[in-house]
Amino acid sequence: MAVGIFDSGLGGLTVLEAVTRRLPQVPFVYFGDNAHAPYGVRDAENVYGLTTAGVSRLFGAGCDLVILACNTASAAALRRMQENWVPSDKRVLGVFVPLIEALTERQWGDNSPPREVAVKHVALFATPATVASRAFQRELAFRAIGVDVEAQPCGGLVDAIEEGDEILAEALVRSHVEALKRRMPHPEAAILGCTHYPLMEAAFQEALGPDVAVYSQANLVAESLADYLGRHPDMLGPGDEGMFLTTGNPAAVSNKATQFLRRRIKFRAA
Ligand code: DGL
Repeated sequence: MAVGIFDSGLGGLTVLEAVTRRLPQVPFVYFGDNAHAPYGVRDAENVYGLTTAGVSRLFGAGCDLVILACNTASAAALRRMQENWVPSDKRVLGVFVPLIEALTERQWGDNSPPREVAVKHVALFATPATVASRAFQRELAFRAIGVDVEAQPCGGLVDAIEEGDEILAEALVRSHVEALKRRMPHPEAAILGCTHYPLMEAAFQEALGPDVAVYSQANLVAESLADYLGRHPDMLGPGDEGMFLTTGNPAAVSNKATQFLRRRIKFRAA
């Protein structure tokens, strides 16, 4: 009954933590494509190839349902995968929609026309590839009108996090927030649109100030997954063992994961 969690590297661990807390009885198989992170500077074709390879590995590990805990892959590859690639007995879901539903105060599956929402000025922090895709703005436009989104591509931040360099990561957060504020001085809400960024959530909140509501995906995705599995219990795959797989060096990746999550994590070669 395993469920797969995919990311380009360590960022999806923020989602893994939340789904494990919410669904402690479900074994999760985590796949980090650390050898190829960051995805945020790759083109869509490349991200598609890497994402399908990783998701195939998770299908092979007994997962019928895989969460792309990666906004870059969700933005650049998910739609194409769902249309042409995912076998009919498997499902692949992304992390965008739960976030946008929370921002627009919608219930799951509410397909009514777009309407005005309370939040009018939204800052989006994401990888260069996610920002370039405009996928967030497209999904938002299906649900809300009159929301001004200012997107900041946070070049370098995923690399710093993957390297375990928290000091550089904090400095990058401050400079990306400053750059954003030059264009939108008073955002009401900030979206952390990359699953690596919650590892730096305190730095974002500090740089943005206490009046800005910071939305990060982990808990929102966990609620959506619990809801989905309640309605589709058959999508719990045949795998019964949780594990951590990486395309990178298992010892090095385990050390960084342990540093970030402050509990012992042991990866094995994918
Ligand atoms: N954590 C991923 C995301 O949510 C990918 C970051 C990257 O590999 O650039 O976008």
